[in-house]
Amino acid sequence: MARWRVGILTASDKGSLGEREDKSGSLLKELIPRIDGEVAAYYIVPDDQRTIEDHLISLSDELGCDLVLTTGGTGFSPRDITPEATKAVIQREAPGLPERMRAATLANTKFAVLSRATAGIRGKTLIINFPGSTKGVKECFEVIEDILPHALQILTGNTEH
Ligand code: MTE
Repeated sequence: MARWRVGILTASDKGSLGEREDKSGSLLKELIPRIDGEVAAYYIVPDDQRTIEDHLISLSDELGCDLVLTTGGTGFSPRDITPEATKAVIQREAPGLPERMRAATLANTKFAVLSRATAGIRGKTLIINFPGSTKGVKECFEVIEDILPHALQILTGNTEH
């Protein structure tokens, strides 16, 4: 059995209408076993703040996910609202994770600074935003994956293994 229950939430107007394949959500699903996680639930929703908030709350409080990863809606376009939805549901911010994601991937692309991704803690759930592109997901995951197990262990008190 995997150690961590992970929820994945893709925010994409086009994806939620079936007009665009959700490659970033699929990539996150593939990456989860690398941190000894299992995907407890996956949702794709439009870029609507209330809808994103409701799903983050459900993944945290009802499904009891240890970790929730979102992809999409972190940029500057008018509909990009994922960081605001995340900030509305967390109780404590965890700025170091997105700081590292931006700083460490800046060498790959200067556009890393255009992601407004945030992270924080709701109860015993860590929520982290990723950019919407598969490239952004891959690059950002790679620079925090070695930190996540330790972060989750401290947050949840799960010291198995
Ligand atoms: N971060 C990394 N590491 N690699 C990337 O390719 N893309 C950027 C940025 N962050 C990118 C990245 C771009 S082009 C945008 S517009 C923003 O993420 C916001 O993306 P989103 O609105 O799809 O979340």
